[in-house]
Amino acid sequence: MAGGGLSQMLTRLLDTYRKLEENRAFSVLLHPGVLANRRRFLRELEQRPLVMRSQPTTVEIELTNRCDLACIQCLRSQGLRPYKLGDITPEHFERILSQFPHTMNLSLNGFGEPLLHREFFTLVAHARARLPWAKIVIYSNGNRLDEATCERLPESGLTEINVSIDAASPATYKKVRRGGNLTRVHDNLRRLVGARRRTNARLPLIGVNYVLLNENEGELVPFIEQAAELGVDFVNCISYATYDWGFQNRRTRDSYRRELDAARTRLGELRLRCRTFPSDDLSWTDPMARFDCRFFWGESVRVTYDGTMTLGCCTPFKETYSYGNLLTTPFEEIWNGEAIRHNRLLTLHHEVPNASCASCDKTCKTFFDGGDERKYISLAVAGN
Ligand SMILES: C[S@@+](CC[C@H](N)C(=O)[O-])C[C@H]1O[C@@H](n2cnc3c(N)ncnc32)[C@H](O)[C@@H]1O
Ligand code: SF4
Ligand code: SF4
Repeated sequence: MAGGGLSQMLTRLLDTYRKLEENRAFSVLLHPGVLANRRRFLRELEQRPLVMRSQPTTVEIELTNRCDLACIQCLRSQGLRPYKLGDITPEHFERILSQFPHTMNLSLNGFGEPLLHREFFTLVAHARARLPWAKIVIYSNGNRLDEATCERLPESGLTEINVSIDAASPATYKKVRRGGNLTRVHDNLRRLVGARRRTNARLPLIGVNYVLLNENEGELVPFIEQAAELGVDFVNCISYATYDWGFQNRRTRDSYRRELDAARTRLGELRLRCRTFPSDDLSWTDPMARFDCRFFWGESVRVTYDGTMTLGCCTPFKETYSYGNLLTTPFEEIWNGEAIRHNRLLTLHHEVPNASCASCDKTCKTFFDGGDERKYISLAVAGN
């Protein structure tokens, strides 16, 4: 094997080892079928056949689409709306989960607040028992991390909790995360970090999230400083998903660049880990890019609380798009059924396959410069 190939293989092995170690997931080595599926899946994700032989390895199951906040950037607050609110039952959760025996990443999220589910800990325990090797994750607004919840989380089987904050000042938080309280969230995070330390537990890993919005311009660096002070394990910095959902970015490329550059510097100074960071070159905003999307090949699969399999991504509601219901149709049938094969075929030809996808930011258009495409292109050519 050439030197380059060997070093690539070693890098991949080291990376896999780090992930297994961080997530306490070494027991996957006792399940060769899961590992074989993952290898096949990654191969197919590159090859993009119309019919997939492997199963997806990342699955999101919504526990509830109810929420106690009404965040300004959230699809459920504006633009798209879930039609009917509700919670998953433990029986339906089991029936859905049993159809994904090769899952390695399980997210218990959709468009709601998972900690509102009254049987949250029971559902996490079910998932852990069924998938002992899996990374089991939630995103939470963090307002409900009370003492009892914080005490239970380290023993719950949850691998990771990401608390969404999106602000550094109480005033901005109040404007963005409507109905929440920043001081309470900070206190809750201190409590959770403390509970984990007291029990000598390594899990759940604790992260905090920041979506770059119109309203929180200039607060990313202080947010990072607060995260370091709170003692969380990492931060996620995410770009705003906008466009035809009813949101419009009003920030300029310069504003984004400046804030991201300053954030990168501060992260380095504080030696704080950042798990997600918007791409450096901002090529994701290129309005001339050809349509493409990996969700049709199962980059992740998303199931709503009532069993509906949706597009897998940011267009989450069954009212917007449904491949079928996993409580009445087996996953294997949906996974290579007519609808998904149609979406795969058109995507291979860079054609937007349906109206929902036409409204998402994969297909759009311009992010900066007020939607003026020509202005954007001339800026891009000028290298700004
Ligand atoms: C939809 S929420 C659900 C979980 C939980 N309620 C929370 O707020 O973390 C999951 C994540 O999506 C993010 N999000 C919501 N709307 C978004 C948007 N328009 N663009 C990017 N991220 C968004 C939230 O900030 C949050 O971090
Ligand atoms: S807390 Fe989460 S689900 Fe609820 S409105 Fe905010 S982003 Fe949406
Ligand atoms: S809505 Fe967008 S991200 Fe979702 S499947 Fe369609 S193109 Fe992909």
